[in-house]
Amino acid sequence: MKLLDRRVVLVTGKGGVGKTTISALIALRAARAGKRVLLCETSGVTQVPALFRVAGRGYDPVEVAPRLHTLSITSEAAIEDYVVMQLHFRRLYKLVFRNRVVGPFIDAVPGLHDLIQLGKVFDLERTQLGGRPAWDLIVVDAPATGHGLTMLASPRAMMELTIAGPFHDNARDIAALFEDHARTALVLVSLPEDMPLKETEELYQRLGPLREAVHGLVLNEVHPAPVPDPALYRTLAPTLRERADEAGREALAIADAALLRTGRQDDARRRLQALGPKVVDVPFLYRRDLGPTDLSGLLPAVEAL
Ligand SMILES: Nc1ncnc2c1ncn2[C@@H]1O[C@H](COP(=O)(O)OP(=O)(O)OP(=O)(O)O)[C@@H](O)[C@H]1O
Ligand SMILES: [Mg+2]
Repeated sequence: MKLLDRRVVLVTGKGGVGKTTISALIALRAARAGKRVLLCETSGVTQVPALFRVAGRGYDPVEVAPRLHTLSITSEAAIEDYVVMQLHFRRLYKLVFRNRVVGPFIDAVPGLHDLIQLGKVFDLERTQLGGRPAWDLIVVDAPATGHGLTMLASPRAMMELTIAGPFHDNARDIAALFEDHARTALVLVSLPEDMPLKETEELYQRLGPLREAVHGLVLNEVHPAPVPDPALYRTLAPTLRERADEAGREALAIADAALLRTGRQDDARRRLQALGPKVVDVPFLYRRDLGPTDLSGLLPAVEAL
């Protein structure tokens, strides 16, 4: 099944590995393919609008590229949404949930903040506009590994906690969407470095039955090989080094170091491939503060996902 034929794509991985960048790439690719796409950031993070050089509107969707909207989910806004939907009365929400007695109680329910954010995605997935789903695809820039896992497990956790009742039924419906591999796919992002790789391998193992939902793994920030034919270079290097002057030797040392890195990247790719799902490389861009043009340049890399 194709990645973009899902209803929801969740992107996670270690902190700082490029989750937001890859989420934006997947969303942009789908939008360019003609889909109406919503890219959701979670836990109140708002980095996507800046990536597209557009002013964000927080919890309200803003269009950052043709057919591509983004919003930032906070559990506070999502709780308000949820309660108002259930109680049909916003003032009652303020009265009951914003007071100092009930507020801390909500914070103490394990996993509630995570569940409520998934619940928002669940609602967005069902939202209709003109007789069809408002969004063809929802991409979720999920929290980093450990927190991402707890978020994914939160519907089940709530079901166990409540056993029956409206909270239980709601959690069950949410679980049904995120556990249905035909509708929800996971993409794990990693870097060709030992720590992020270890975390990806651990996350993959800890996903349990959700492992089936992993559509692909992204090896981000891959550097190009310094020479077109590394094997040939290795054969020629000793002779080259003998004949080279000081500047030449320096150049060869740089090439050697870069080749070493390419070798480590190949090892990293093999480690990810050993997990099972397909692995795609996303090249490292020698730039800071990536913008829309950089994203367009990186698009072909996620085409294979
Ligand atoms: N392929 C790439 N080439 C160059 N820079 C990149 C690449 N991918 C990501 N970056 C840069 O690395 C930094 C981290 O990327 P990003 O914000 O996407 O990671 P993240 O996993 O979402 O981080 P966080 O865990 O903080 O949310 C950013 O400055 C981003 O521009
Ligand atoms: Mg991010």
